[in-house]
Amino acid sequence: KIQPVLLSGGVGSRLWPMSRERYPKQLQPIHGDRSLIQDTAVRVSDPEIFHGPLIICNEDHRFIIAEQFREIGISPSAIILEPMGRNTTPAAAVAAVVAIAQDPDAVLLLLPADHAILDRDAFMEAIDAAHALARQGYLVTFGIKPQHPETGYGYIRRGQQLAGVVGAYTVAAFTEKPDQALAERFLADGDHYWNSGMFMMPAGLLIAELERHTPETLAAVRAALDQAKRDDDFLRLGAEAFGQAPNISIDYGVMEKTDKAAMVVADIGWTDIGSWSALWDISDKDANGNAAVGTVMHVDSRDTYVRCEDGRIAAVVGVDNVILVTTDDAVLLVHRDRAQDVKHVVDGLKRER
Ligand code: GDD
Ligand code: MG
Repeated sequence: KIQPVLLSGGVGSRLWPMSRERYPKQLQPIHGDRSLIQDTAVRVSDPEIFHGPLIICNEDHRFIIAEQFREIGISPSAIILEPMGRNTTPAAAVAAVVAIAQDPDAVLLLLPADHAILDRDAFMEAIDAAHALARQGYLVTFGIKPQHPETGYGYIRRGQQLAGVVGAYTVAAFTEKPDQALAERFLADGDHYWNSGMFMMPAGLLIAELERHTPETLAAVRAALDQAKRDDDFLRLGAEAFGQAPNISIDYGVMEKTDKAAMVVADIGWTDIGSWSALWDISDKDANGNAAVGTVMHVDSRDTYVRCEDGRIAAVVGVDNVILVTTDDAVLLVHRDRAQDVKHVVDGLKRER
């Protein structure tokens, strides 16, 4: 069976004011009725194929997460608490060390907790293909056909086709977050795919690669697990040791460096719900391109996203391409083309604190 690992550490500042440090986007019903982490868990809940998920999250979120898993009736195989965020390399290392202690042949499926995947069947096919490749000794990425020169993603250059698995290639190069010029070249050349941020890999292979490329991470994580304390359903990592781990994402820490990467092409309706405009992209819209959550009236407005869930009525008259989001204590109005810049609001609020 495959061991899903749910990574929940991000803050989601571009989805302010809904996403907050204490209550980030992955724990909220941003798209649909369930929270994004609940959707992620449900997607990998077939007990024939998957173990219960290993959840790696910040300790501040432990009760919300435990409660959300009770709601959907999925028992995590563990909820592991980080005393502080150290990005995804240490989190993945924790998962690998824990999983291999239970099963030396464990295969991990690392999953960001904040994506939408619209085509569930295609997703399961991609999982199958990736599992086959992981068993052959690859660190497997899921490649998404790029739509625009996004600089916020990793890019995978497709290498040779791998026999025996449909849509499988070696990875010729992995470039995390290129600059604009490079992203434009990657988009134009047709050989590059977006890295979806999901990975399938044998736990033992990940540990070997960590040993090779970032041994200090592995040492810190092993010590943090030695010092870990059980606390109800939670496993609390030793803070002092975990704090020694370098702050580095798995993309820079492992994927850019390894020569054991492979890719399956994943045409699965994938979106990183990174910003309000990304959410507009995947939302149901009326004939004028307006997406609305709550009670919203439109008069001569086009291509808007309006969210007003508190029983008030929002009315939008004669404006196009705006995003309007209201919560109990905040209102956001932003042009659809500037949705990426919402993170500066959060930076500004932090400075004022
Ligand atoms: N447990 C834990 N601890 N999880 C973390 C931490 C941490 O310190 N930091 C981030 N995460 C979680 C996030 O919550 C998210 O679910 C996932 O790990 C990925 O982190 P992001 O911060 O969202 O990464 P990114 O979007 O900048 O880049 C990654 O995803 C892109 C696709 O969305 C990379 O893998 C890119 O290559 C990829 O294209
Ligand atoms: Mg992300």
